[in-house]
Amino acid sequence: MSLNELLAGVRVVGVVCNQWGDTGKGKVVDVLAEKWADVIARGTGGANAGHTIVCDGREFIFHLVPSGILHDSKGKVNVIGEGVVLDPCTLVDELSQLDRAGFSCDNLRISHEAKLVLPHHLVLDRAREFKKGTGKIGTTGRGIGPAYEDHVARRGLVVNDLLNQDAFVKKLAKVLENARLELRAMELDEPVLHEIFNHPLLSNGTFYHSGKLFDEPAIVRTYMEDYAKRLAPFISDTGSFMRGTVGKKNILLEGAQGLLLSVDHGTRPYVTSSDPSINGLAKGVGLRERDVQLCLGIVKAYMTRVGGGPFPTELGGKESEGYCNDHSHNKEFERSAYSHVPLNAQNDLERGIALRIKGQEYGATTKRPRRTGWLDLVALRYAVQFNGPLLFLTKADVLDGCEEMRVCTQYSYTGPDYWYGETLLKSGTLLDRFPVDSSVLEHVQPLYTTLKGWNTPTHSIKSFDSLPRELKEFVRFVETHSQGKMCGLSNGPDREDIIFF
Ligand code: GDP
Ligand code: IMO
Ligand code: MG
Repeated sequence: MSLNELLAGVRVVGVVCNQWGDTGKGKVVDVLAEKWADVIARGTGGANAGHTIVCDGREFIFHLVPSGILHDSKGKVNVIGEGVVLDPCTLVDELSQLDRAGFSCDNLRISHEAKLVLPHHLVLDRAREFKKGTGKIGTTGRGIGPAYEDHVARRGLVVNDLLNQDAFVKKLAKVLENARLELRAMELDEPVLHEIFNHPLLSNGTFYHSGKLFDEPAIVRTYMEDYAKRLAPFISDTGSFMRGTVGKKNILLEGAQGLLLSVDHGTRPYVTSSDPSINGLAKGVGLRERDVQLCLGIVKAYMTRVGGGPFPTELGGKESEGYCNDHSHNKEFERSAYSHVPLNAQNDLERGIALRIKGQEYGATTKRPRRTGWLDLVALRYAVQFNGPLLFLTKADVLDGCEEMRVCTQYSYTGPDYWYGETLLKSGTLLDRFPVDSSVLEHVQPLYTTLKGWNTPTHSIKSFDSLPRELKEFVRFVETHSQGKMCGLSNGPDREDIIFF
């Protein structure tokens, strides 16, 4: 099926991730924005997202601006919806980068109801992770959790408050009062506080006040002078705009994070603080889930995860998790120490490293090495229940030359007796269903089917029929075991590297 056939008569499409994020959503959104969409909207998460687009040999990484922005000059409207937690510092920086690169953003719209990320959100996020020691979530440090907390606690500020200084000052005083209480209770030493505040996204330490912890006037100045003035022309009621556009224009919803990171459906507590499912996404732009006619659930041909939390199919298991969360093991280190290691290495930890190097699996937001592992169809079956059966495969080309690959289809529970819903799990219990509770998930052993790999380079192939037989079999295997239907694949980072079947 061609792209035109797939999208015939369709007006609203969603692109979401069926894994733990970083599956290539940005690339797919950029392509669909160019070929089909009139309006492209983000509705969940914030600057924790890092969406990469490669065009004409240039790489762009967007955190807040939707991935359709490179088509702004063709009149395409990019929307940051009300479900987003918006850090104006990151956004202003992104707009300047676009400007320097020669791209316009004249048609960008920012929801007046988007949640405003403030300095105390980043500070609390970092301070909590610092205090935790072991068992860290491994957040991106972008203030996401605390920002959503202020929202549900009914004290958070929204983007509209940037337009009204008096309201901003009053509400800020209230949220800071609360943040001070929490921060004081942590009893952090002065040098630690200095280090936490001394970050470019926190105005390089200028928001710190040794007595009051937060320098309120400095925050007001920066938000009013540097951010409000720059962003005001883009701020509007995007919810009404979106609802009024349904059925009239082609709308593309861009997911952030991934289903397994959902605060509602993910592997808690190792999750983000929004719901990246298609339901959460539709709500976050002011639409209903039933307005979305087609949802593309992105599936990477293998899996990655950044930060903490169970990852049953991780290559190298716990050793890999520790290795990846050790700050000295960055991209440069791996390039010099491990570039000779083949994808078919015998040792699983090394194999995971080789996969990371080949797939360039380093955080687009934090630069952290992403933990790598085999495709998990137990998890995919679960994600399909929320995001629907339509699948899109990415990064299959990274597995070119892999002699054989493992795909997980079931788990065997290995932990102590544990009630999970109506089932008493005992060591040896087989699980077909994905347990979101991390205390179960960390005690499962994946049961694998081994599939034969392909030797032919797939990068420049332009049709499903021309793909190597083993890759077609891989696609069919994934469909059969996930009850999904694959509608296309991406076989390289560039815009051109895409096939719809
Ligand atoms: P997102 O967060 O889902 O948008 O994904 P990221 O941008 O964080 O990570 C995806 C990475 O894979 C980026 O570096 C992309 O340029 C790259 N990428 C996307 N699709 C493909 C593909 O099909 N093959 C290869 N080799 N790289 C891809
Ligand atoms: P995109 O949109 C991968 C992960 C973090 C951490 C957890 C909580 O690029 O796919 P947070 O900062 O949100 O409180 O961190 O969620 N995480 C992501 N992992 N891709 C992302 O976004 C992510 N956004 C958050 O690593 O484990
Ligand atoms: Mg990403």
